[in-house]
Amino acid sequence: AIDISSLRGKTGYVTIDEGFKNTGSTKSAITFLDGEEGILRYRGYSIEELADKADFLEVAYLLIHGDLPTEAQYTEFVGKITKHTMVNEDMRKIFDGFPVNAHPMGIMSALVSAMSGFYPDSFDEKSPENLQLHIIRLLAKFPTLATWCYKKSQGHPINYPKNDLDYCSNFLQMMFALPVEDYKVDPVVSRALNKLLILHADHEQNCSTSTVRLVGSSKANIFSSVSAGISALWGPLHGGANQEVIEMLEAIRNDGGNVQKYIDMAKDKNSGFRLFGFGHRVYKNFDPRAKIIKKAADDVLEKLGVSDPVLAIAKGLEEAALKDEYFVSRKLYPNVDFYSGIIYRALGIPTNMFTVMFAIGRLPGWIAQWLELRDQNQAIGRPRQIYTGETHRPFVEKNKR
Ligand code: ACO
Repeated sequence: AIDISSLRGKTGYVTIDEGFKNTGSTKSAITFLDGEEGILRYRGYSIEELADKADFLEVAYLLIHGDLPTEAQYTEFVGKITKHTMVNEDMRKIFDGFPVNAHPMGIMSALVSAMSGFYPDSFDEKSPENLQLHIIRLLAKFPTLATWCYKKSQGHPINYPKNDLDYCSNFLQMMFALPVEDYKVDPVVSRALNKLLILHADHEQNCSTSTVRLVGSSKANIFSSVSAGISALWGPLHGGANQEVIEMLEAIRNDGGNVQKYIDMAKDKNSGFRLFGFGHRVYKNFDPRAKIIKKAADDVLEKLGVSDPVLAIAKGLEEAALKDEYFVSRKLYPNVDFYSGIIYRALGIPTNMFTVMFAIGRLPGWIAQWLELRDQNQAIGRPRQIYTGETHRPFVEKNKR
């Protein structure tokens, strides 16, 4: 039984909304999302147009500063990011301490958190110039750190940034160039990456972004807040789903490609299994990002001449699920994570790096939301609860328990 008096504080009643299904945590002018109609816009620009025409750093600028950059603003922004792609060599000592099989999301969260130690003036609330510099540092160094994780897993030496390359190409170069080979970035790969990063760049008050805002509301610095966001993103119900999807598709393939078996398992509540890459808290019609990614998966695989058998399994699974009453009645459609992994794989990115790719894309959104929270001067985030534990109990000495 719930003690109703615990619901009533001096300032009124407490509402309970587990999972915040109907609770708005903030007003925001960054991302518009209409889940019924499948509409997503950053600062008023449709996701379809941005994914088709923009450059990832242009979108990052848009999210962070509110408007698309002019030529001059873009050149200045990119120039500053390019200047900061190198990482302090002492960060390597922290990195080197991780075992070779450490998950890259754990490493990324730790290294971004460690940036607070390397830039102690990030605690200085009063300097907007410092803050802008830290934001540039984050955007610039994040891909560099991500490639360290991959290189370590391969037993390869890390590559330093090559700053005559654009953001995506530089990332690909740091990932895949080997000292013994002449590496040339394939523009098909670079463009595909650009599109994926744009599609992931913001998604209003999702779990990781809300985490960034909640941590930021205590006036924690940008590095700590983003580090917390990375940890939240890692979970399999959120960004970690992209890794789970490929593992699930592989499992179906190795199991003879029987998609119906997995659909039936997902419908069985006792199985503990869900169709990864399906369902969304807000989209109840379709996820516009999934639509773009599905098409891009076909394009990219064709252009790269890659034939991935799990693409056919994914399509078969989608088709079967969308005919099934269970999925239809619950409005469960493929989400952003369903097809993204197939593209990442075609680009040569290993499965355990998929969620890191998501994080690289989401970084500008986290930054924009953190800045907005700060400008709104919001109160510290501190939800309430209904207490359901024991009422007052007298203390009993150890020997009498
Ligand atoms: N497979 C099977 N059943 C599902 C699935 C799924 N993927 N998703 C939801 N359901 C069912 C639930 O069991 C529930 O059924 P019920 O009404 O009979 O109890 C109903 O659909 C509603 O689901 P909830 O879990 O209440 O919806 P919620 O909004 O809390 O969860 C979520 C959304 C976490 C995305 C969920 O759909 C899920 O777990 N999907 C799989 C993981 C995934 O793909 N996550 C990535 C999301 S996108 C992103 O974060 C980038």
